[in-house]
Amino acid sequence: MGTARKIIIDTDPGQDDAVAILLALASNDLDVLGLTTVAGNVPLDLTTLNALKICELAGRKDVPVFAGCDRPLRHDLVTAEHVHGKTGLDGADLSDPSFSIQDQNAVDYIVETLRGHDAGTVTLCPLGPLTNIGAALQQAPDIADRIAEIVLMGGAYFEVGNITPAAEFNIFVDPEAAEIVFKAGCKITVMPLDVTHKALTSRAWIDELRSINTPVTNAVAGLTDFFERFDVAKYGGTGAPLHDPCVIAYLIQPDLFSGRNVNVEIETESKLTRGMTVADWWGVTDRPKNAMFMGDIDRNGYFSLLTQHLRTL
Ligand code: RIB
Ligand code: CA
Repeated sequence: MGTARKIIIDTDPGQDDAVAILLALASNDLDVLGLTTVAGNVPLDLTTLNALKICELAGRKDVPVFAGCDRPLRHDLVTAEHVHGKTGLDGADLSDPSFSIQDQNAVDYIVETLRGHDAGTVTLCPLGPLTNIGAALQQAPDIADRIAEIVLMGGAYFEVGNITPAAEFNIFVDPEAAEIVFKAGCKITVMPLDVTHKALTSRAWIDELRSINTPVTNAVAGLTDFFERFDVAKYGGTGAPLHDPCVIAYLIQPDLFSGRNVNVEIETESKLTRGMTVADWWGVTDRPKNAMFMGDIDRNGYFSLLTQHLRTL
């Protein structure tokens, strides 16, 4: 086995963030250098507390957690308690953490880590609004060439928006940060709603987690049950889109996904379509192809990967 891939997970937990973090911590293919938290699903104090709780649940108090930006670069913060509940991790009663966050700010940690490791060896995995990443690129433009890859959950094209008719939540909350990221020239792989809406949980999968009956699988079952209620009510059908673990699953088993290398630009000015990811899917412009935009997933392979890993924690 080669050396584990070094990653920083930037996150706004959120039930699906929690599953993504647990998947990463369970993988021998990944070396989670640290978690950086950002305001998003719930305010920063809660996303940060939730990140600590998740590491505690996984028995990984060795993973450093750094708090980042408490509001987007330009707009007021928009949160999503209607989806994630007041705590951001409704559905499982996780123990309070027995360890604290690092003193260093998340943005400084991201810059320092990228400068401190060989160029092209650290991958950034943003699972929430891109505020921390955008701020880091603004503060230290030199890191753009040092980032191995940015694999993010965000955006939507054929699937359209989930927080407005035009925009997906992570990009909508901080479109200015997203614009900085998509124009930075880094290698970017995007997990938009186009693919995450095909990564739907099922009753059978949740029941399987409960039958494994470990603290982690029981917590994930509870979190997913809670998270599902919103999407089932909104979209009908069964199952909730497990958005954020797609980012980590891609790093572990990339052939679960397929997509297209296209130009993606971010709407930042329009009131109506703020945060829209405008993907030139049919190549009708000569704009640079700056992102691998995923559109398909092997849904069963994805959930098998999740079960295989989560049961080991
Ligand atoms: O739109 C889905 C995204 O917004 C996910 O990352 C979810 O956790 C929320 O942050
Ligand atoms: Ca998230």
